[in-house]
Amino acid sequence: MFSFHSSFTLFQVIFPLTVVTCLQLTVNSKSDLVERAKRHEDLQGIYEHNLERDFALYRSASYGASDLLRMIESALQGRAPKHLTLLAIKNREVYPMPLTEVQPKLASRRVAAIVEGLVNASKEGVTFEDTILLLNTWDEPKCANMGACPAPVFSLIKQWNWDTESSPQNDVLIPFFNHQYGDTISYPTQHKVAKALMRAAVQNGMRENCTRLWLLELAKTDLGQKHLDVGITNNLKKGFQVQLVPFVEMAEHAKWRYLISTDGFTASCRFGKLLQINSLVLKEESTWIEYYYRSVKPGVHFISFNKDNVLKVLQELEHYDDAQVLKMTNSAQDFSHIFLSQYAKALYVSRAIHLYNKQFKEVERMMSQIKSSDLGNLHTALNALKLYASSG
Ligand SMILES: *[C@@H]1O[C@H](CO)[C@@H](O)[C@H](O)[C@H]1NC(C)=O
Ligand SMILES: *[C@@H]1O[C@H](CO)[C@@H](O)[C@H](O)[C@H]1NC(C)=O
Repeated sequence: MFSFHSSFTLFQVIFPLTVVTCLQLTVNSKSDLVERAKRHEDLQGIYEHNLERDFALYRSASYGASDLLRMIESALQGRAPKHLTLLAIKNREVYPMPLTEVQPKLASRRVAAIVEGLVNASKEGVTFEDTILLLNTWDEPKCANMGACPAPVFSLIKQWNWDTESSPQNDVLIPFFNHQYGDTISYPTQHKVAKALMRAAVQNGMRENCTRLWLLELAKTDLGQKHLDVGITNNLKKGFQVQLVPFVEMAEHAKWRYLISTDGFTASCRFGKLLQINSLVLKEESTWIEYYYRSVKPGVHFISFNKDNVLKVLQELEHYDDAQVLKMTNSAQDFSHIFLSQYAKALYVSRAIHLYNKQFKEVERMMSQIKSSDLGNLHTALNALKLYASSG
């Protein structure tokens, strides 16, 4: 159980102090210039472009305890639901209940950060309605069809068709809280290395011709050498050999004029970190999205590329003067500073729960009847849900 009531203050997280990590590399230079989103009104556009689109399919649906139970029971019968967690909120307390006894570290780390993010924000005044929902903390979505998901499942990543502006999956996206995007990081543009930096891991699920490894091949060509500074810092791919290079700290990334963001296994959280920096972000064209990707735009916040045109894109960028680069990096830094703070993310989750509850028959009555003491444990929580569902 994680209480919202403890006395810990969050002030320093929401208003970080300006710190200078080394000569000329400034962190949080923008804190005083643009105000962070602090209320739901400030996030209206973000809700419209992201959250409300995820809920579109459920707008005229209604679901209840029996639908939630049906989803949980089918998950428990299928392949181990390693990345699924039943999450309840009651009286400002959050109860994460993983569907398996031993959750992979990655999944449980993500759950713990979400819970902590909500608890933190609650102490700062964000309110969360009482609710009970299914949370999926895997790199892939859960709901490829409505039949499988009569009620929304909350996930971190899914796919998006940019042409039809729709998703093949019904998951409702919410933010990662284990990656924090609060700071902005700046380095004088005229002193940057005029190459595109990528430091990335090779994951086990990645194909040999994935973008990361393709860029590595390109870097061996003459033109590639001129434009690319790419390297693999961590190789998790079984049976694959690659020369590793040292890790570059995130703040140090600011010393390169261009930063490359490629997909990992699916979407890469690194993208959000790169938007904080006053270097031009080159993002791989991709269908994989996190919750906010539908609000950032190529040509405004970043430059988009694919495997086939990356060197051509970099050649064209040579004609951009510093002012043009700064215009775009300013938009990116402002976006990240205003909308991607832990507090703004918690507001987003609060609104997601509000929309979820709106279509959830009797969630309020149900949560008032289920005892808090039943919510710490999956078994007792499921029994309480069953009791409620059967008593109608
Ligand atoms: C919650 O607040 C603490 C204390 O300020 C901070 O260290 C921690 O990173 C925050 N957690 C999240 C997930 O935001
Ligand atoms: C790898 O990707 C590049 C760039 O898209 C493409 O030109 C090449 O044919 C691919 N190679 C293989 C073996 O699929």
